[in-house]
Amino acid sequence: MSVEKAEEIRKLMTEAREQTLGLFDLAEESELHESPGFGFRPIIWHLAHIGAFEGYWLLQRLAGQQPLDEHYERIFDPIKTPRESSRNLPTRREMESYLERVRSAALRVLDNARFEDEDPLLRNAYIFHLVLQHEYQHQETLAYLFHLLEPQKKRRPQANGALERTIESEQAAGEMIRIPAGSFQMGTVWDEFAYDNELPVREVYVPAFKIGKRPVTNAEYARFVEAGGYERREFWSDEGWSHKERENWTAPLYWTREGKGWRERGMFEEREFHPHHPVTNVSWYEAEAYARFAGKRLPTEAEWEKAASWDDEKKRRLRFAFGDRVPSDKEVSNFGFRFWETTPVGSFPEGASPYGCLDMTGNVWEWTGDKFEGYEGFRAFPYPEYSEEWFDGDHRVLRGGSWATRAPLLRTSFRNFFRRHFRIGFTGIRLAD
Ligand code: AVJ
Ligand code: FE
Repeated sequence: MSVEKAEEIRKLMTEAREQTLGLFDLAEESELHESPGFGFRPIIWHLAHIGAFEGYWLLQRLAGQQPLDEHYERIFDPIKTPRESSRNLPTRREMESYLERVRSAALRVLDNARFEDEDPLLRNAYIFHLVLQHEYQHQETLAYLFHLLEPQKKRRPQANGALERTIESEQAAGEMIRIPAGSFQMGTVWDEFAYDNELPVREVYVPAFKIGKRPVTNAEYARFVEAGGYERREFWSDEGWSHKERENWTAPLYWTREGKGWRERGMFEEREFHPHHPVTNVSWYEAEAYARFAGKRLPTEAEWEKAASWDDEKKRRLRFAFGDRVPSDKEVSNFGFRFWETTPVGSFPEGASPYGCLDMTGNVWEWTGDKFEGYEGFRAFPYPEYSEEWFDGDHRVLRGGSWATRAPLLRTSFRNFFRRHFRIGFTGIRLAD
């Protein structure tokens, strides 16, 4: 049993590492040692951080070993070394050799691991999955940090698919789906890896509501901007307004005015505006203001999760919006760097949730109205700095995953969370009513 499981994990770890290293080929190393903007750590920091996290959990905490490199383990720990001090970092080569040393020791620990052990870190290979999910999350972080670099500084990777299908008509935009009142199971019901913040599962009654069949498109959002949305006080919360004023926001992060229209900056080019793609790189403040402009609101987490996962006929939860299997079939949505950008909303009818919502997985993360908090009965595990530390009233929950999210994180119980002003991530909007 353990042997097969270890083999499977080894494959996942190897594959994740290839993906991670590949990301660092997007630009010259010299571009990676400076902050990409907004005070974020240099891109290269994330490379050794991924290794330090793996070393901490698998070598120190699980196997009881001494730190492999105390200096690294200090400067690549986000708590011990704050953002401002994350400068003058080692080279990519040095970092990669540290990563290899951690990895070969970690694989020896994996070979000796007994997953049926009482130790909650070992049971169901919990801690190996935590380390994997951490690496996947940093891959997405890397994607949005690289996005901040000017397109001419980046090389397009070879595997860069193109979506070959027709775009749904624009009339379809704005359509709402009615979800009848009733209870569903919120949180994780499956005996597999989940973060502490997805637990415990509970029965939640959700009154009838309506939710957008698709995320809000660029064209829809442009009407808000063009109606003076960023100048009209009535759409904004007090904090949203003052933040917008201070930062001089006049449109989503990557939009630029061109005559009466817009241009948009993608990962590899400054290009024409894609009206049918979901709006992306908007903060929670902007999402909230847009919803008010549209005469609607943001969904609660419970509403979002029910619309994405509940099969009312069979009275059961789906792990992913379109079924229970981890998607490897990329037909169901835009995730895992398949296109390196968003796709027109509603492009994946096969990925519809049982209620008929589209793009619930992938494309863009969707802001919910809810503060990030523990569910009733929450217990921090295995460390409070993953979730509990951020139950601070400023973070809001996002659901669904983006084009840069790896498949295992697309589970319908997964909760992402960022501060209200955060907009460098691939964050969009789905309305509720
Ligand atoms: C859940 C995406 C907000 O990037 O700060 C990475 C994930 N936690 N390393 C983040 C995380 C520790 C986290 N987010
Ligand atoms: Fe991290």
